[in-house]
Amino acid sequence: MKSPASLLLAAALALFALPSGAQQPAASAAAPAASAPAAAAEPAPAHAAVAAAPNGKVDPAAGEAKFGTVCVACHGQGGNSGTAANPKLSAQHPAYIVKQLQEFKSGKRPNPIMQGFASQLTDGDMKNIAAYVGAQKASPGFAKDKELVSLGEKIYRGGVQSRQLPACAGCHSPNGAGIPAQYPRLSGQHSDYTAGQLVAFRDGVRKNSAQMAQIAAKLNDREIRAVADYIAGLR
Ligand code: HEC
Ligand code: HEC
Repeated sequence: MKSPASLLLAAALALFALPSGAQQPAASAAAPAASAPAAAAEPAPAHAAVAAAPNGKVDPAAGEAKFGTVCVACHGQGGNSGTAANPKLSAQHPAYIVKQLQEFKSGKRPNPIMQGFASQLTDGDMKNIAAYVGAQKASPGFAKDKELVSLGEKIYRGGVQSRQLPACAGCHSPNGAGIPAQYPRLSGQHSDYTAGQLVAFRDGVRKNSAQMAQIAAKLNDREIRAVADYIAGLR
Protein backbone atom coordinates (compact mmCIF):
# COMPACT_ATOMS: atom_id res chain seq x y z
CA MET A 1 0.00 0.00 0.00
CA LYS A 2 2.86 2.33 0.73
CA SER A 3 4.99 1.60 -2.29
CA PRO A 4 2.99 3.38 -5.04
CA ALA A 5 2.99 6.55 -2.96
CA SER A 6 6.68 6.39 -2.21
CA LEU A 7 7.45 5.66 -5.84
CA LEU A 8 5.52 8.74 -6.82
CA LEU A 9 7.44 10.78 -4.32
CA ALA A 10 10.74 9.39 -5.49
CA ALA A 11 9.73 10.23 -9.03
CA ALA A 12 8.76 13.74 -8.00
CA LEU A 13 12.06 14.28 -6.21
CA ALA A 14 13.95 12.94 -9.20
CA LEU A 15 12.10 15.43 -11.39
CA PHE A 16 13.11 18.29 -9.14
CA ALA A 17 16.69 17.13 -9.20
CA LEU A 18 17.03 16.93 -12.97
CA PRO A 19 17.00 20.49 -14.32
CA SER A 20 19.25 22.01 -11.68
CA GLY A 21 21.63 19.13 -11.19
CA ALA A 22 22.07 17.61 -14.61
CA GLN A 23 24.02 20.23 -16.48
CA GLN A 24 26.16 21.91 -13.85
CA PRO A 25 28.87 19.80 -12.28
CA ALA A 26 30.98 22.94 -11.76
CA ALA A 27 28.41 24.68 -9.58
CA SER A 28 28.05 21.71 -7.27
CA ALA A 29 31.28 22.52 -5.47
CA ALA A 30 29.90 25.85 -4.25
CA ALA A 31 26.35 24.72 -3.59
CA PRO A 32 26.91 22.30 -0.69
CA ALA A 33 29.05 24.86 1.11
CA ALA A 34 26.34 27.49 0.78
CA SER A 35 23.63 25.15 2.03
CA ALA A 36 25.55 23.68 4.94
CA PRO A 37 24.85 26.41 7.55
CA ALA A 38 21.16 26.41 6.67
CA ALA A 39 20.96 22.65 7.10
CA ALA A 40 22.81 22.80 10.39
CA ALA A 41 20.37 25.39 11.72
CA GLU A 42 17.38 23.14 11.01
CA PRO A 43 15.64 22.27 14.26
CA ALA A 44 14.63 18.77 13.18
CA PRO A 45 16.88 16.32 11.36
CA ALA A 46 13.90 15.28 9.24
CA HIS A 47 13.73 18.71 7.66
CA ALA A 48 17.42 18.76 6.96
CA ALA A 49 17.11 15.49 5.06
CA VAL A 50 14.30 16.80 2.89
CA ALA A 51 15.92 20.15 2.28
CA ALA A 52 19.13 18.49 1.18
CA ALA A 53 17.41 16.32 -1.42
CA PRO A 54 17.11 18.75 -4.36
CA ASN A 55 20.85 19.24 -4.89
CA GLY A 56 21.67 21.82 -2.25
CA LYS A 57 20.29 24.46 -4.58
CA VAL A 58 17.41 25.40 -2.34
CA ASP A 59 17.61 28.97 -1.10
CA PRO A 60 15.49 29.56 2.03
CA ALA A 61 16.50 33.24 2.14
CA ALA A 62 15.04 33.78 -1.33
CA GLY A 63 12.01 31.81 -0.14
CA GLU A 64 11.64 34.10 2.86
CA ALA A 65 11.78 37.17 0.63
CA LYS A 66 9.15 35.80 -1.73
CA PHE A 67 6.96 34.67 1.14
CA GLY A 68 7.22 38.12 2.69
CA THR A 69 5.96 39.93 -0.41
CA VAL A 70 2.82 37.87 -1.06
CA CYS A 71 2.04 34.90 1.14
CA VAL A 72 2.53 36.49 4.56
CA ALA A 73 -0.66 38.52 4.16
CA CYS A 74 -2.76 35.37 4.56
CA HIS A 75 -0.43 32.75 6.03
CA GLY A 76 1.08 34.99 8.73
CA GLN A 77 4.60 35.67 9.98
CA GLY A 78 6.73 32.57 9.49
CA GLY A 79 3.67 30.76 8.15
CA ASN A 80 1.91 30.86 11.52
CA SER A 81 -1.45 31.99 10.23
CA GLY A 82 -3.78 33.43 12.84
CA THR A 83 -6.84 33.09 10.61
CA ALA A 84 -8.83 29.87 10.74
CA ALA A 85 -9.48 29.70 6.99
CA ASN A 86 -5.81 30.11 6.09
CA PRO A 87 -3.70 27.09 7.03
CA LYS A 88 -0.55 27.31 9.11
CA LEU A 89 2.44 26.35 6.99
CA SER A 90 5.19 26.61 9.60
CA ALA A 91 7.15 23.41 10.32
CA GLN A 92 5.35 21.60 7.50
CA HIS A 93 7.48 19.12 5.52
CA PRO A 94 8.91 20.95 2.49
CA ALA A 95 8.14 18.11 0.07
CA TYR A 96 4.47 18.28 1.05
CA ILE A 97 4.36 22.07 0.56
CA VAL A 98 5.93 21.75 -2.89
CA LYS A 99 3.45 19.02 -3.85
CA GLN A 100 0.50 21.20 -2.83
CA LEU A 101 1.79 24.26 -4.68
CA GLN A 102 2.29 22.24 -7.86
CA GLU A 103 -1.16 20.77 -7.57
CA PHE A 104 -2.81 24.14 -6.92
CA LYS A 105 -1.04 25.36 -10.05
CA SER A 106 -2.14 22.40 -12.16
CA GLY A 107 -5.67 22.41 -10.73
CA LYS A 108 -5.40 18.89 -9.28
CA ARG A 109 -6.16 20.53 -5.95
CA PRO A 110 -8.67 23.09 -7.14
CA ASN A 111 -8.77 26.34 -5.17
CA PRO A 112 -9.48 29.68 -6.80
CA ILE A 113 -7.36 31.65 -4.33
CA MET A 114 -4.29 29.44 -4.28
CA GLN A 115 -4.38 28.60 -7.98
CA GLY A 116 -3.71 32.25 -8.72
CA PHE A 117 -0.82 32.57 -6.30
CA ALA A 118 0.76 29.20 -7.11
CA SER A 119 0.63 29.93 -10.84
CA GLN A 120 3.02 32.81 -10.32
CA LEU A 121 5.66 30.57 -8.73
CA THR A 122 8.40 28.66 -10.52
CA ASP A 123 9.49 25.24 -9.25
CA GLY A 124 12.50 26.96 -7.70
CA ASP A 125 10.30 29.49 -5.89
CA MET A 126 8.21 26.65 -4.50
CA LYS A 127 11.23 24.78 -3.17
CA ASN A 128 12.70 27.94 -1.65
CA ILE A 129 9.47 28.94 0.06
CA ALA A 130 8.92 25.37 1.29
CA ALA A 131 12.42 25.25 2.78
CA TYR A 132 11.80 28.57 4.53
CA VAL A 133 8.38 27.85 6.05
CA GLY A 134 9.33 24.26 6.85
CA ALA A 135 12.13 25.52 9.09
CA GLN A 136 9.90 27.96 11.03
CA LYS A 137 8.75 27.12 14.51
CA ALA A 138 5.03 26.32 14.70
CA SER A 139 2.81 28.18 17.13
CA PRO A 140 0.72 25.84 19.27
CA GLY A 141 -3.01 25.44 18.69
CA PHE A 142 -5.79 24.53 21.09
CA ALA A 143 -8.74 22.15 21.13
CA LYS A 144 -11.96 24.01 21.87
CA ASP A 145 -14.74 21.49 22.33
CA LYS A 146 -14.33 19.43 25.50
CA GLU A 147 -17.15 17.05 24.63
CA LEU A 148 -16.05 16.30 21.09
CA VAL A 149 -12.35 16.13 21.75
CA SER A 150 -12.43 12.70 23.40
CA LEU A 151 -14.24 11.27 20.37
CA GLY A 152 -11.60 12.97 18.23
CA GLU A 153 -8.81 11.44 20.26
CA LYS A 154 -10.35 7.97 19.90
CA ILE A 155 -10.54 8.28 16.13
CA TYR A 156 -7.09 9.82 15.81
CA ARG A 157 -5.35 7.20 17.93
CA GLY A 158 -7.40 4.10 17.24
CA GLY A 159 -9.54 4.65 14.15
CA VAL A 160 -12.95 2.98 13.98
CA GLN A 161 -12.46 -0.75 13.62
CA SER A 162 -16.07 -1.63 12.77
CA ARG A 163 -15.77 0.60 9.67
CA GLN A 164 -12.18 -0.29 8.85
CA LEU A 165 -11.15 3.29 9.45
CA PRO A 166 -7.41 3.29 10.20
CA ALA A 167 -5.95 5.39 13.00
CA CYS A 168 -4.80 8.78 11.79
CA ALA A 169 -1.77 8.34 14.04
CA GLY A 170 -0.60 5.43 11.89
CA CYS A 171 0.35 7.79 9.10
CA HIS A 172 0.41 11.24 10.69
CA SER A 173 2.25 9.97 13.80
CA PRO A 174 0.91 10.00 17.39
CA ASN A 175 1.80 13.65 17.98
CA GLY A 176 0.67 14.81 14.56
CA ALA A 177 4.15 15.72 13.35
CA GLY A 178 3.64 13.51 10.30
CA ILE A 179 6.34 11.44 8.64
CA PRO A 180 8.52 13.20 6.08
CA ALA A 181 8.14 13.29 3.24
CA GLN A 182 5.03 11.17 2.74
CA TYR A 183 2.64 12.19 5.50
CA PRO A 184 2.06 15.84 6.33
CA ARG A 185 2.22 17.44 9.71
CA LEU A 186 -1.26 18.12 11.15
CA SER A 187 -0.67 19.17 14.77
CA GLY A 188 -1.76 22.63 15.83
CA GLN A 189 -3.58 23.32 12.57
CA HIS A 190 -6.75 25.45 12.70
CA SER A 191 -9.66 23.05 13.19
CA ASP A 192 -11.85 24.87 10.64
CA TYR A 193 -9.21 24.36 7.98
CA THR A 194 -8.66 20.68 8.87
CA ALA A 195 -12.39 19.98 8.91
CA GLY A 196 -12.77 21.78 5.58
CA GLN A 197 -10.08 19.60 4.00
CA LEU A 198 -11.63 16.39 5.29
CA VAL A 199 -14.98 17.41 3.80
CA ALA A 200 -13.24 18.34 0.54
CA PHE A 201 -11.51 14.93 0.39
CA ARG A 202 -14.79 13.19 1.21
CA ASP A 203 -16.80 15.08 -1.41
CA GLY A 204 -14.20 14.65 -4.13
CA VAL A 205 -13.38 18.36 -4.29
CA ARG A 206 -9.78 17.83 -3.18
CA LYS A 207 -8.65 15.11 -5.57
CA ASN A 208 -4.93 14.89 -4.87
CA SER A 209 -4.87 11.94 -2.47
CA ALA A 210 -6.69 8.66 -3.04
CA GLN A 211 -5.65 7.55 0.44
CA MET A 212 -7.25 10.52 2.16
CA ALA A 213 -10.37 10.35 -0.02
CA GLN A 214 -10.97 6.77 1.13
CA ILE A 215 -10.41 7.68 4.75
CA ALA A 216 -12.57 10.80 4.73
CA ALA A 217 -15.38 8.86 3.04
CA LYS A 218 -15.77 6.90 6.27
CA LEU A 219 -16.18 9.94 8.52
CA ASN A 220 -19.46 11.70 9.29
CA ASP A 221 -19.68 15.43 9.98
CA ARG A 222 -19.57 15.05 13.74
CA GLU A 223 -16.50 12.81 13.58
CA ILE A 224 -14.80 15.28 11.26
CA ARG A 225 -15.40 18.14 13.68
CA ALA A 226 -14.19 15.98 16.58
CA VAL A 227 -10.96 14.80 15.00
CA ALA A 228 -10.21 18.27 13.61
CA ASP A 229 -10.62 19.75 17.08
CA TYR A 230 -8.34 17.10 18.61
CA ILE A 231 -5.69 17.76 15.94
CA ALA A 232 -5.76 21.51 16.70
CA GLY A 233 -4.62 20.75 20.25
CA LEU A 234 -1.98 18.16 19.34
CA ARG A 235 1.66 19.09 19.93
C1 HEC B 1 -5.50 35.68 -0.07
C2 HEC B 1 -5.00 34.74 0.91
C3 HEC B 1 -3.83 33.84 0.50
C4 HEC B 1 -2.60 34.19 -0.02
C5 HEC B 1 -2.10 35.58 -0.37
C6 HEC B 1 -1.85 32.97 -0.12
N1 HEC B 1 -2.58 31.90 0.32
FE1 HEC B 1 -1.96 29.97 0.46
N2 HEC B 1 -3.81 29.40 1.08
C7 HEC B 1 -4.87 30.25 1.28
C8 HEC B 1 -6.06 29.47 1.59
C9 HEC B 1 -7.46 30.01 1.87
C10 HEC B 1 -5.67 28.10 1.57
C11 HEC B 1 -6.55 26.87 1.81
C12 HEC B 1 -7.02 26.38 0.45
C13 HEC B 1 -7.96 25.20 0.55
O1 HEC B 1 -8.96 25.32 1.24
O2 HEC B 1 -7.66 24.17 -0.05
C14 HEC B 1 -4.24 28.10 1.27
C15 HEC B 1 -3.46 26.95 1.19
C16 HEC B 1 -2.10 26.94 0.98
C17 HEC B 1 -1.25 25.77 1.04
C18 HEC B 1 -1.69 24.35 1.39
C19 HEC B 1 -1.41 24.07 2.85
C20 HEC B 1 -1.71 22.67 3.29
O3 HEC B 1 -1.57 22.42 4.49
O4 HEC B 1 -2.08 21.82 2.47
C21 HEC B 1 0.01 26.18 0.75
C22 HEC B 1 1.25 25.32 0.69
C23 HEC B 1 -0.03 27.60 0.51
N3 HEC B 1 -1.33 28.03 0.66
C24 HEC B 1 1.07 28.38 0.20
C25 HEC B 1 0.99 29.73 -0.17
C26 HEC B 1 2.10 30.48 -0.69
C27 HEC B 1 3.49 29.92 -0.90
C28 HEC B 1 1.64 31.74 -0.95
C29 HEC B 1 2.40 32.91 -1.56
C30 HEC B 1 2.98 32.68 -2.85
C31 HEC B 1 0.24 31.77 -0.56
N4 HEC B 1 -0.10 30.53 -0.10
C32 HEC B 1 -0.56 32.89 -0.63
C33 HEC B 1 -4.85 31.63 1.22
C34 HEC B 1 -3.81 32.39 0.71
C1 HEC C 1 -2.71 5.58 5.10
C2 HEC C 1 -2.10 6.81 5.55
C3 HEC C 1 -3.02 7.89 6.11
C4 HEC C 1 -3.92 7.77 7.14
C5 HEC C 1 -4.29 6.51 7.95
C6 HEC C 1 -4.48 9.08 7.33
N1 HEC C 1 -3.92 9.97 6.45
FE1 HEC C 1 -4.32 11.97 6.33
N2 HEC C 1 -3.04 12.15 4.76
C7 HEC C 1 -2.30 11.13 4.21
C8 HEC C 1 -1.54 11.63 3.10
C9 HEC C 1 -0.61 10.84 2.21
C10 HEC C 1 -1.83 13.02 3.00
C11 HEC C 1 -1.25 14.01 1.99
C12 HEC C 1 -2.19 14.20 0.85
C13 HEC C 1 -1.60 15.08 -0.23
O1 HEC C 1 -0.49 14.80 -0.67
O2 HEC C 1 -2.23 16.08 -0.60
C14 HEC C 1 -2.78 13.30 4.06
C15 HEC C 1 -3.33 14.56 4.27
C16 HEC C 1 -4.22 14.86 5.29
C17 HEC C 1 -4.78 16.16 5.55
C18 HEC C 1 -4.50 17.44 4.76
C19 HEC C 1 -3.51 18.27 5.51
C20 HEC C 1 -3.38 19.68 5.00
O3 HEC C 1 -2.52 20.40 5.53
O4 HEC C 1 -4.13 20.08 4.11
C21 HEC C 1 -5.60 16.03 6.63
C22 HEC C 1 -6.42 17.13 7.29
C23 HEC C 1 -5.55 14.66 7.05
N3 HEC C 1 -4.70 13.96 6.22
C24 HEC C 1 -6.24 14.16 8.13
C25 HEC C 1 -6.29 12.81 8.48
C26 HEC C 1 -7.13 12.28 9.53
C27 HEC C 1 -8.06 13.09 10.40
C28 HEC C 1 -6.94 10.92 9.55
C29 HEC C 1 -7.64 9.88 10.41
C30 HEC C 1 -9.09 9.87 10.35
C31 HEC C 1 -5.94 10.63 8.53
N4 HEC C 1 -5.58 11.80 7.91
C32 HEC C 1 -5.45 9.37 8.27
C33 HEC C 1 -2.27 9.81 4.67
C34 HEC C 1 -3.04 9.28 5.68
